Amino acid sequence: MIIKTEAERAALIEGGKRLAAILRALGAKAAPGVTAHELDALAEEMIRTGGDEPCFKGYTPEGAARPYPAALCVSINDEVVHGIPNESVKILKEGDIVGLDLGLRHGGIVVDAAITVAIGAVNEETLRLMRATSAALAAGIAAALPSGRVGDIGHAIQEVIEDAGFKVVKELGGHGVGTLVHEEPFISNFGKRGTGELLEEGMVLALEPIASAGKAAVVVAPDGYTFRTKDGSKSAHYEHTILLENGGATVVTVC
Ligand code: MF3
Ligand code: CO
Repeated sequence: MIIKTEAERAALIEGGKRLAAILRALGAKAAPGVTAHELDALAEEMIRTGGDEPCFKGYTPEGAARPYPAALCVSINDEVVHGIPNESVKILKEGDIVGLDLGLRHGGIVVDAAITVAIGAVNEETLRLMRATSAALAAGIAAALPSGRVGDIGHAIQEVIEDAGFKVVKELGGHGVGTLVHEEPFISNFGKRGTGELLEEGMVLALEPIASAGKAAVVVAPDGYTFRTKDGSKSAHYEHTILLENGGATVVTVC
């Protein structure tokens, strides 16, 4: 969406703050022995307590055969994104990394964010993967300038991930957000500077680099949602919703 009024901007900023606080609480709760289902239940409860709506639950992304069944996506280790927390028992254990991806609608406006958290001690390479993917998100945000191009973002994200020795998962990427979970433009996590759609003042975008510690290829599980790395290697994912304004980007999903 394009933010046009002060009221829309205020709803976006408040929704982003709430989402960031909930994600932080989920990250703090994630520990050995905790289940994906418990995290999903807590996410939904916190969203509804604030008077907002979880916007992934019941949402059918383009190409999906059925609505997504939960509020939260929980993607463990080789699960890349869209792991379903409430259809099988998934128990976190020491050494795992877990992607937590959550969206909510506040005052009619959708915000979308994700973090990857380490469960106890994880190995050095996994920490490097997490740091590189998080740094790629920061680089993507710094490259997201009104009057720039979508390819500026993809280029910045790709450079950080590949310079760290990791691979960009090519099938997935960021997107416009605000009225719906997924809007135009699609924001590839690789690309060339100066190419692709024009970035404009007022645009609300979800940037979400996704990196693999091994090969980039992914497969979709029989549940129709869970993406995994084909070679079983670990994957990391971070996402922020941002607003293009005043010649730069404001990160919305921070507390
Ligand atoms: N944050 C996720 C994304 O942008 C949204 C997941 S929608 C769901 O891909 F339906 F798959 F949960
Ligand atoms: Co998203």
